Order: sequence, then C-alpha cells, then structure tokens
Amino acid sequence: MKIAVYPGSFDPLTNGHLDIIERSSKIFDEVIVSVLINIDKNTLFTTEERVELIKKVVEPYKNVKVESFDGLLIDYVKQKNSNVIIKGLRALSDFDYEFQMALMNHKLDSNIETVFMMTNAKYSYVSSSSIKQVAKFGGCLKDLVPDIIIPSLTNKFRGD
Ligand code: PNS
Repeated sequence: MKIAVYPGSFDPLTNGHLDIIERSSKIFDEVIVSVLINIDKNTLFTTEERVELIKKVVEPYKNVKVESFDGLLIDYVKQKNSNVIIKGLRALSDFDYEFQMALMNHKLDSNIETVFMMTNAKYSYVSSSSIKQVAKFGGCLKDLVPDIIIPSLTNKFRGD
C-alpha cells in the first residue's frame, strides 16, 4: 500500500490545495493531509478547526485522511509508514522555499522523496494569505476555497 503525506498549514485550505489532494488521491493508495500544529505562528484557524474543516471537504475521497502533526515532518512520515511527501508548486516564487525544504528533508532521511505537483493553472494565483485578505475585506470567496469553508471564514472576520 503506497501512502503519501500532503503536509501544510492549510490556514485555510484553498481550492488549489484541494486540486492537489484530488489528483494525488488518484496516484496513491492513501493520502494523509497533515496539518502542521503551528506553535510559533499566528493562525486564523486553530489546528482542530482546520482538521475538522478539511475532513468535511475531503469526505467524498475515501482514500484521503486528515490529521495534525508537530515536530519534524520526516519523523511523522516514517511513523505513517510512508516515504512520500507531496507538495504543490504554483510559480517560480515557490521554488526556492520548496527546494530548500525538499533538500533538507532529503538530507535528514534520504529514503523519503518529495514529489511536486504543478498547480492547476486556474489556481496558480490562489494562496491562503491572499484569501484571508479577501475574506477580511468582504470580497467574494467563491471558487477560491471550497464552499463548505466560506461561512467559517467569513465568521472569523465578522465584527472586525
Ligand atoms: O503550508 P506551509 O506552511 O508551506 O507548510 C510548511 C510545512 C508544514 C510543510 C513545513 O513547515 C514543515 O514541514 N514543518 C515541519 C518541521 C520540519 O520538518 N522542518 C524541517 C524541514 S525544513
């Protein structure tokens, strides 16, 4: 059974992330969407909120699981009996950061491979941080994040 781990902050999950999840679920037997427990980062959603929201979104994909993790990614990947990390790449601007992380993870454990998937062109401009700005100022979130996430996102900024 080939298990892949798709890690990230997912604050919030975007349609770009969902596209990567859907495509990787067709390649691997099981995909574990793994939400980083950000201890030193201010997130809009708590770890538990992110996990619950993503679980609702991925319900139709029977081979996709959602969990949270902390510590080193490679330790978590090994613990899950996996050796594949999935990452999405949008533009050249993602490359430096992702390249560094992939090399560091490979240095820490050369049995673990990072597999990059190019984003779907229609989501190449979508990021969690730009979505938070759109939500904060009341812009339209349709087609940017899964519909299930929109009410939770707008509620976070209600009263601001
Ligand atoms: O969505 P993000 O914020 O770009 O995801 C980053 C993530 C979760 C993949 C990265 O921060 C991570 O792997 N954190 C765990 C700590 C770790 O293993 N660091 C060593 C690799 S540089």
